[in-house]
Amino acid sequence: MGRVQDEVAIVTGGAVGIGRSAAQHLAQEGAKVAITDVNEEDGEATAAQIRDGGGTAQFYAHDVTDEAAWERVVDSVRDDLGAPTVLVNNAGIYLIKPLEDTTLEEWRHLMDINVTGVFLGMKHVVPAMREARRGSIINLSSVAGLVGSARHVCYGASKGAVRTMTKDAAIELADDGIRVNSVHPAYVDTGMADYGAEMSNASKDELDAMHPIGFMGQPEDIAYAIVYLASDESRFVTGTELVLDGGYTAQ
Ligand SMILES: NC(=O)c1ccc[n+]([C@@H]2O[C@H](COP(=O)([O-])OP(=O)(O)OC[C@H]3O[C@@H](n4cnc5c(N)ncnc54)[C@H](O)[C@@H]3O)[C@@H](O)[C@H]2O)c1
Repeated sequence: MGRVQDEVAIVTGGAVGIGRSAAQHLAQEGAKVAITDVNEEDGEATAAQIRDGGGTAQFYAHDVTDEAAWERVVDSVRDDLGAPTVLVNNAGIYLIKPLEDTTLEEWRHLMDINVTGVFLGMKHVVPAMREARRGSIINLSSVAGLVGSARHVCYGASKGAVRTMTKDAAIELADDGIRVNSVHPAYVDTGMADYGAEMSNASKDELDAMHPIGFMGQPEDIAYAIVYLASDESRFVTGTELVLDGGYTAQ
């Protein structure tokens, strides 16, 4: 028996990066995984790779900002894999930009994906989870949702919103047996960290050195935590913020 045997898990933004690793680890532990993303090529490839390894995975083209698309995805997942019992709200984008240079369009675009996408995801999986009287929702926040950094007003606002939305939903849904938690990585070695290095004019070594532990995270460092929060091992854990940051916020 896997640690999340026969759970039906939706992972948004699962084509690459942290989402891909989460999908792979959930499938390894027995979950049937629905990978959703706007990146269809890598999403299909990730699902195929999981199936080749003996797991169950299906890719769905999906923009998390689109409410009708959420309805379609949840219906299709129900038909194809079963009613969802795990949601990993992982899709997100990053912006490092001085406050006064950030356009309203950039602000709205980022909020739409990082905040509205999480709201819509929770809203549309809850009915299925409520029927099953069980569910685990895992929202990707960031250390940027806990502490401040220069040129992070827009991104930090979005991740701070995810942190508090998680706690609000956890209280609202506790009676239904639905747990809601957020995870807060520091830099993790994905395309997003490449962008961070480029915008900060920093080498990968310099990004590593920002973490007291001496290295930035790998996607699996976050995936292991997601598997834990998806599984019954965390049945007493809801509304919490699980910080995975190599000591970044302990300083
Ligand atoms: N990598 C880091 O350093 C880091 C640190 C803290 C938090 N996070 C958070 O973790 C999550 C995953 O980050 P990552 O590093 O894997 O990023 P990534 O850029 O490697 O992958 C993000 C994925 O989200 C998808 N996506 C973007 N917009 C979407 C939309 N509108 N609808 C559906 N999918 C969309 C992208 O196509 C991509 O596949 C994000 O929420 C990010 O903010 C990342």
